[in-house]
Amino acid sequence: MAQRPYVIDEIISAKQIAARIEALATEIEREFANTDKLVVVGLLRGSFVFIADLVRELDLPVEVDFLEASSYGNAMESSREVRILKDLRAPIEGRDVLVVEDIVDTGHTLFHVIGLLQARKPRKLRTIALLDKPVRREAQVKADWTGFEIPDEFVVGYGIDYAQRNRNLGYIGKVRFTDAAG
Ligand code: IMP
Ligand code: MG
Repeated sequence: MAQRPYVIDEIISAKQIAARIEALATEIEREFANTDKLVVVGLLRGSFVFIADLVRELDLPVEVDFLEASSYGNAMESSREVRILKDLRAPIEGRDVLVVEDIVDTGHTLFHVIGLLQARKPRKLRTIALLDKPVRREAQVKADWTGFEIPDEFVVGYGIDYAQRNRNLGYIGKVRFTDAAG
């Protein structure tokens, strides 16, 4: 895909994200208060910054695992097909599991991952997404916790990329194209 020129407009600051994660962590601690050990599953790659900050706010015994599902490639359109590129290292049967996603967009990725993991018979499976674009939804799915609902904009930063760039921004911004077609 040819790279068009763009700028990034901040829509959620690092400070807002940190405050929201603190509040979400409190709710998650309550939900899993009696767990022996919570398996926190990050969906690669977009959730790596979120999961890092989230687990450090969780006052619970946790272990961390990762799963990589593909739906995007390098383009800005989501495809319906979801493939597992990297599976969990550990079995989750009988375990408490929290799936951590960066963005729920069409919902196909989260829907597919929930189905896959439920089939492994965890004791309790919950999901959290930093961002949700409800107007884009195609699959019937909603994360148990959401950081922020956002409109139908393409966003980057805080782990989230556009063509593998901008994951290292501390904030969430929306991509605004600056060429004639934008
Ligand atoms: P879904 O299967 O359509 O819900 O897509 C979810 C995945 O698409 C997310 O985990 C992201 O990796 C990617 N995605 C969706 N919206 C955006 C965006 O605005 N910026 C970057 N990646 C996105
Ligand atoms: Mg993703």
